[in-house]
Amino acid sequence: MSKSKKIARISVPQILSRKGGEKIVCLTAYTTPIAELLDLHCDLLLVGDSVGMVLHGLSSPIGVSLEMMILHAQAVMRGSDHALVVVDLPFSTYERGADQAFRSASKVLRKTGCQAVKVEAAEGVAESVAFLVSRGIPVMGHIGLRPQSLNVDGGFKAKGRTDDERERVLKEARAMDDAGAFAIVVEGVAPDLAAEITSIVKAPTIGIGASNVCDGQILVTDDLLGMFEWTPKFVRRYADIRGLIREAVTRYSQDVRSGSFPGDGETYRDLTKANSFLVRQ
Ligand code: KIV
Repeated sequence: MSKSKKIARISVPQILSRKGGEKIVCLTAYTTPIAELLDLHCDLLLVGDSVGMVLHGLSSPIGVSLEMMILHAQAVMRGSDHALVVVDLPFSTYERGADQAFRSASKVLRKTGCQAVKVEAAEGVAESVAFLVSRGIPVMGHIGLRPQSLNVDGGFKAKGRTDDERERVLKEARAMDDAGAFAIVVEGVAPDLAAEITSIVKAPTIGIGASNVCDGQILVTDDLLGMFEWTPKFVRRYADIRGLIREAVTRYSQDVRSGSFPGDGETYRDLTKANSFLVRQ
């Protein structure tokens, strides 16, 4: 065994024990460098299927495959050693039943080393969650606005506008909780509904567009960094990374065109002094 001192990752029981206590800090991550930057600040990193829209130019999560999730999850695991890493099971990889869910979830855990998977609530999914949990696979549930159901719902719409819809969301919350989900993402619901859900379930609730009454919060990292022109109302932008990139690339293109880049300091004139080209200095 290696003698190097390793930081232990946050565990599923530790997240569970935070119900009603210190708020749980969660963000999405899809790559190694971003995972490295977020890891120590977060309790939980989610490799979300939002990766399809954020990094791959898809218009919804429907086109995301299990293989894409595995590749991004491997990258996030390489860049983190503190936060609990949860990976989304993408559309059509778990809804058929417990067998299919177990095959997909176990593949993700084995190939990436992540600690848990996330699934969206739908008819019959709670039974699969119970099956996975009883076989040693921790599951986070996702209720309310469910991005993978956008074609049935007619788009990304907040949930709980009617009594029926409210009842459906509460039913999803109870079903996920009874099935043994260790945390439940609550997306796009009004504060009173988020408060009711948080009070009736044993699992910590993780809000996104669901007010500050939840036990924790999650955002898509690229939204909070200001990577997109438009962000939903519930996002607070902490940076203008899009503006910074635009400015940096404008200056680079001007410098290349004017011939001022590369300058003397960026040129290998004496190769006896230069270290390997392949190693960053
Ligand atoms: O896919 C995702 O990133 C998510 C979070 C926004 C909760 O499901």
